[in-house]
Amino acid sequence: MSQFVRHDRLRTFVERFATLLDEAPAEASLLNTGGIYLRELIAHDDWLPEAYARPDPERYQQYLLHADSRQRFSVVSFVWGPGQATPVHDHTVWGLIGVLRGAEIAQPYCLNEHGTVIASGTARRLESGTVDAVSPHIGDIHRVSNAYPDRVSISIHVYGANIGAVSRSVYPEQGGRKAFISGYSNDALPNIWNVSRELAIP
Ligand SMILES: [Fe+2]
Repeated sequence: MSQFVRHDRLRTFVERFATLLDEAPAEASLLNTGGIYLRELIAHDDWLPEAYARPDPERYQQYLLHADSRQRFSVVSFVWGPGQATPVHDHTVWGLIGVLRGAEIAQPYCLNEHGTVIASGTARRLESGTVDAVSPHIGDIHRVSNAYPDRVSISIHVYGANIGAVSRSVYPEQGGRKAFISGYSNDALPNIWNVSRELAIP
């Protein structure tokens, strides 16, 4: 089965993203050009191995797909079971969110003068194929939920760090903030580097 997974798509994406970071590391270009690369990646749904698309009945899953060798960026699949949602949270680094399967609702938040989160603007519905962005400069606090109460949705996220190791915050409704480090749901990564196997496919 695995030989039919188009690992070359993710490999090409991370190669292009690493080159972009070398040549145009300003956040605006990473979000704009990187967003175009991500839109191209999620235009196809034949490359994410099943092990990284598996929901959990208890909570949404975040599977690391690739980490840059210098931890300049990471690529993660978020798998949302029916009705699942994140708490209100921040990132502290830039992030791109591309919906691969299903749809998601993204609600931005900001902090009021008491440091309590309040909804900022209306929630956006992100259909498959669309890309959204976050960062401390353009708005970093949001809550993301599966738009569907009865099916799985999957999004592919790219962050400007090894996001599972970044110290950041969740914002409880009653105010204040709580530090958290998300970690990842998986221990093994997809092997996107077995190029000889791809060459052997007639
Ligand atoms: Fe987020």
